[in-house]
Amino acid sequence: MSRKYLIAGNWKMNKTASEAADLIREIHAAVGSQTTVQVCVCPPFTSLAAASELVEQSEIILGAQDMSPHASGAYTGEISAEMLRDLYVGFVILGHSERRQYYGETNQSVNAKVLAAVQNNLKPIYCIGETLEEREAGQTLEVVRSQVREGLENFPAASVENLVLAYEPVWAIGTGKTATDEMAQEVHADIRKVLVELFGEGPGASVRILYGGSMKPENAAGLLAQPDVDGGLIGGASLTSRAFSGIVEAVLEA
Ligand code: PGA
Repeated sequence: MSRKYLIAGNWKMNKTASEAADLIREIHAAVGSQTTVQVCVCPPFTSLAAASELVEQSEIILGAQDMSPHASGAYTGEISAEMLRDLYVGFVILGHSERRQYYGETNQSVNAKVLAAVQNNLKPIYCIGETLEEREAGQTLEVVRSQVREGLENFPAASVENLVLAYEPVWAIGTGKTATDEMAQEVHADIRKVLVELFGEGPGASVRILYGGSMKPENAAGLLAQPDVDGGLIGGASLTSRAFSGIVEAVLEA
């Protein structure tokens, strides 16, 4: 089963709209015309409109960092799937560990967002991963398995091809500590098993599982060479074209 690599930049709360436009132009010049690796940028909501016009001329796909599970109405501060679709957003990051940690998101609340995203033809990048405490207690696989099962409850079988998972060990995010290639592969292979249980052999094998957590050009090639690592969700290194494009190039050169 061949899965196309996806390198997605999670800009988090960084860059004004004009800074975002500059960075997208640079990324476009470096890797925006190739089609071997799918490239996605996820700027803050305030930059999506400007970004949407810029990526129109390139192969870069636009992503958002969060989304409301509700369609519309009295939800102050929230952004709906329809609003994202209207700006040609293709992917939406859901259940990032920072949202779980600081905004009380749970497998159940993220599940509602994942279902709302696919119903609206947005591709969810559903994030999972264990904390350092959980890893040290030997609970990694157990934690990740229940994040996959609970977060994907009632996920429609017909939309599995639109599903992306991101395994991001919480202790590796923004810390400079990366999972070793073997550690990442062990968890990715286990996630794959759960996906096959949930959706069957073929569909389970079609889901892309990204690795996230201090991925940079220097360590990308080793991680991305693992059989079940299908791309990266990049935080810090997505904020400069040099580092982000360097990761895309690491895949192209492999
Ligand atoms: P990092 O973040 O690359 O800065 O570790 C990854 C993420 O949080 O998605």
